[in-house]
Amino acid sequence: MACWQAAVRDADGLILVTPEYHGSVSGVRKNALDLLGFEELTGKVAGLISVLGGQSNSNALNDLRVTLRWVHAWVIPEQVAIGQAWKAFDSEEKLLDDKLGERLDRWAESLVTHTQKLRG
Ligand SMILES: Cc1cc2nc3c(=O)[nH]c(=O)nc-3n(C[C@H](O)[C@H](O)[C@H](O)COP(=O)(O)O)c2cc1C
Repeated sequence: MACWQAAVRDADGLILVTPEYHGSVSGVRKNALDLLGFEELTGKVAGLISVLGGQSNSNALNDLRVTLRWVHAWVIPEQVAIGQAWKAFDSEEKLLDDKLGERLDRWAESLVTHTQKLRG
């Protein structure tokens, strides 16, 4: 457990991905965050992604955003929900939807830019 906490403490930015389970963050993802606190997360920049079996929506992402605000992390406004994840990737695990790929590129760019701005 110390490993997980130290890894987050040492990171400048965080990529947090969750499956959507029953319209929210998965229990495992929430539990992993509950093992962290202000010490690890305050001032940290985070980017959020969700994967869903159904259509894309923002339910899990919104809930994750609330949790991170609670511990004073900075979550970038861009976010990506990968709907119908079972058919979103080819056999080499590449995204099939070019527009979704471009959205992910913009999301990654924003995460890097905001991490540099907020963390110096
Ligand atoms: C307990 C459970 C609840 C789920 N709830 C949702 C849901 O609310 N909305 C949705 O689109 N998919 C839902 N799914 C499908 C997962 O989001 C989907 O399988 C996900 O892409 C990959 O998670 P997995 O690797 O744990 O299956 C659910 C799956 C499980 C196992």
